[in-house]
Amino acid sequence: MYSTIKMLHSYWAYLVLVILVITAFNALFKLLGKKEYTAKDFRLALFTLIVSHIQLLIALILYFVSPMFDLWGEMGGEVMKTASVRLYLVEHPFVNILAIALITIGYSKHKKKLTSAPKFKMIAICYLIALVLFLSRIPWDVWPN
Ligand code: HEM
Repeated sequence: MYSTIKMLHSYWAYLVLVILVITAFNALFKLLGKKEYTAKDFRLALFTLIVSHIQLLIALILYFVSPMFDLWGEMGGEVMKTASVRLYLVEHPFVNILAIALITIGYSKHKKKLTSAPKFKMIAICYLIALVLFLSRIPWDVWPN
């Protein structure tokens, strides 16, 4: 169970990051190019939302089935003082949930905009910040593997 969920989380991360990069830069370049917002742009924004929410579901299962979770019981407050453990049990989950919340807010706010430029601006800002947040807390010492 644990190794399957971890592998799924690890590979799904590629999909999350690739679709997020495509959608964020698509919005940025179309904003700068004063392009019209189309159904394809809507589908990109929606697909990124769905893919990142699926990663969150996988992650929440992983968090509690991972042997790392037992370190809370074994180390208690020492978790916060140990950088490698703090990354997995606190920083990575917290920062990624923040990023997924930003994608969700950006998606729902961009839908309410009536013209192209504000739609692209909302997606570009929220999805690019989310991308930076994801990249800032990826365990780069073990991934990509
Ligand atoms: C969508 C955002 C996320 C991305 C892109 C992501 C990506 C990753 C990657 C690449 C790894 C390393 C996998 C490996 O060792 O091969 C990882 C591990 C992990 N992630 Fe995430 N993650 C995300 C969200 C989350 C969230 C929200 C949580 C917790 C609620 C979480 C919990 C974990 C845990 C516990 C591990 C370590 C599992 C272990 O080695 O036992 N992740 N994540």
